[in-house]
Amino acid sequence: MNKRKMLGGLFLGFAFFSVAASAQQPLYKNAALPVEERVNDLLGRMALEEKILQLNQYTLGRNNNENNLGEAIKQIPAGIGSLIYFDETPELRNAMQKRAMEETRLGIPLIFGYDVIHGFRTVYPISLAQACSWNTALVEDACATAALEARKSGVDWTFSPMIDVARDGRWGRISEGYGEDPYTNAAFCVASVNGYQGNDLTSADRVAACLKHYVGYGASEAGMDYVYTEISNQTLWDTYLPPYEAGIKAGAQTVMSSFNDISGTPGSGNHYTMTEILKNRWKHDGFVVSDWSAVPQLIAQGAAADSKEAARVAFNAGLEMDMMGRCYDKHLEALVEEGKVSMERIDDAVRRILRVKFRLGLFENPYTPVSKPDERFLLPQSKAVAERLAEESIVLLKNEGGILPLQSASAKTIAVMGPLVDAEMELLGNWHGHGRAEDVYPIRKALQEEFGSQANLLFHAGCPFDGDDNSQFAGALEVARQADVLLLFMGERHNWSGENCVRSTIELPDIQSAFIAEMKKAGKPIVLILANGRPLALSNVEPLCDAIVEMWQPGVPGGKPVAGVLSGRVNPSGKLSVTFPRATGQIPIYYNRRKSARPNSGKYQDIPSTPLYDFGHGLSYTRFTYGDVSLSKTSVAAGEKLVAEVSVTNVGERDGAETVHWFISDPACRITRPNKELKHFEKQFIKAGETKTFRFEIDPMRDLSFVDADGQRFLEPGEYYIMVDGQKVKLEIHE
Ligand code: NOJ
Repeated sequence: MNKRKMLGGLFLGFAFFSVAASAQQPLYKNAALPVEERVNDLLGRMALEEKILQLNQYTLGRNNNENNLGEAIKQIPAGIGSLIYFDETPELRNAMQKRAMEETRLGIPLIFGYDVIHGFRTVYPISLAQACSWNTALVEDACATAALEARKSGVDWTFSPMIDVARDGRWGRISEGYGEDPYTNAAFCVASVNGYQGNDLTSADRVAACLKHYVGYGASEAGMDYVYTEISNQTLWDTYLPPYEAGIKAGAQTVMSSFNDISGTPGSGNHYTMTEILKNRWKHDGFVVSDWSAVPQLIAQGAAADSKEAARVAFNAGLEMDMMGRCYDKHLEALVEEGKVSMERIDDAVRRILRVKFRLGLFENPYTPVSKPDERFLLPQSKAVAERLAEESIVLLKNEGGILPLQSASAKTIAVMGPLVDAEMELLGNWHGHGRAEDVYPIRKALQEEFGSQANLLFHAGCPFDGDDNSQFAGALEVARQADVLLLFMGERHNWSGENCVRSTIELPDIQSAFIAEMKKAGKPIVLILANGRPLALSNVEPLCDAIVEMWQPGVPGGKPVAGVLSGRVNPSGKLSVTFPRATGQIPIYYNRRKSARPNSGKYQDIPSTPLYDFGHGLSYTRFTYGDVSLSKTSVAAGEKLVAEVSVTNVGERDGAETVHWFISDPACRITRPNKELKHFEKQFIKAGETKTFRFEIDPMRDLSFVDADGQRFLEPGEYYIMVDGQKVKLEIHE
């Protein structure tokens, strides 16, 4: 479009506006009308410059992520589409929103986004831990809590959930997702989208969700961030896309394009993923925002020669909003004039952004009601959800001789040591929003409350997180010798995982391993309690420990949930959402690798080829026995459904919760399959002595079909297996 036409449009827009305004309020301001009608009306009134401004996102407030500092924006145009909002009070938002509402011709509200990753102020466990709870309802509640705190603080939109399937523990961002399995990521994605968005986005306590990072960001080579990823189309469809498809079906309003180059076409310039799949096939009608500066980074990736070309490539590929890239605001107008970007594409993009703004009710309620921090943050019910989620996320990895829970008779003196004991900040985990160390329940306090009346607690720092300072070892050994049992709190600092926080090895740092070995000299039982943001390779310390408790980074509940596990007040019910290898060299390692030509060969010379702890591993203080799996039918047609059932009995002395994982297996298929693939899971609380039935309603078209390299779904007649807890039951799909 040339300038004359544009100005003509602008003039006509003004003329229409003045006539309409005298008669009635513009249609787009009428909340009673359907969103699409309002969007069309508003779009019809907008000039090209106004439209282009909507396609940009800058920042407001102080950023606390050192990877994303960006330039300071002093003069934010009032008509900008969106801001990342780093503040935690409504006031700054409202002041900026006032400019958008009052200083622009059409009064289009801004949408304020923020990274609410695992809580806003009430920080709950990292996502990798959440998935170990296998409790989607609880994760939904936690996300609803985060949504409430965020929306009441001036945030309309969270850049969450991260649903990047990740199989490399070195990659720091493995902490932000739900582990190695596509189905698990899909299930928790749906739960979190439901929690954030609820049924009504206009509510004062819900926010729009953003699925990220689209797509394949977790396939990072060597665990490095931002790098090239090698993903065949088959693997894209089998592994990386399913969580996104589930999130779109659940109604997620937005998607964030990824930094990674997907086998030659970066995620942020990828027409196949952003337009053909997301919009044409899945009918997503919201918008795609880039990751931070991902548009100009197309130049670094070699996909564009300059920022103008980057804008063209990204925008035409289907990326609607440029986060901090400053490419769209600079170049889109010229690209339209040159005919390199069509007006249809501009309108489609703006329409998508406006749609989300209307759905959030921002035109009716552009401002955030001012409230006191204690009216929205750390409410008792919010903390209760975080605490329960942290309890259910804890995974008991090892419990030799039933050393846990600690018995008052045999644990009269307990030594508590390790770098995590007084390190509240580390328990928040990475990317903890507005969480503060002072909100975290200290481990020391939790243990004193849990055991103080029945045991003598001896605290000692023991060793640092890393480095080579072993000056405290001797003192710690003295303390250890006086104790009946040693609780060693070890692991990672909060900033050892997260964006651009990669480790080349995932073993415990040498100083921590050496400390455990030193404490072994005391000859007392050792309980290793771990807080970390990735799977760890523990084979050098595992033989030294009687029990190992993976508490992850729990957020504000801090030491309380794990204290409950140690005392037995809480019966652990978490199971791993990610495989724990024996050594870093096994990476990538995951349960659903495609089959090997020689299943019993392919061994390492130096270590067993199996994981140290499998996906789904997790012990309890009670024992569950499984009955035989039954199928309502053993031979069905493709369109016929059936039900698999298994009864589980708690044969131990304590009440507890059990998660049943239902896997399927296709022994022969035209596209090879893994040995087993998770298709359903369910967690139930079972009292001691009770039996509960677990069901899996199998829809063959959904659960036994696969996709080809272009996402076309097919279901082959033949043999399948339904697998639960070591059982394998045959099922036939007939023609
Ligand atoms: C970069 C990160 O990759 C992404 O996850 C985040 O949402 C954006 N920055 C915005 O902070």
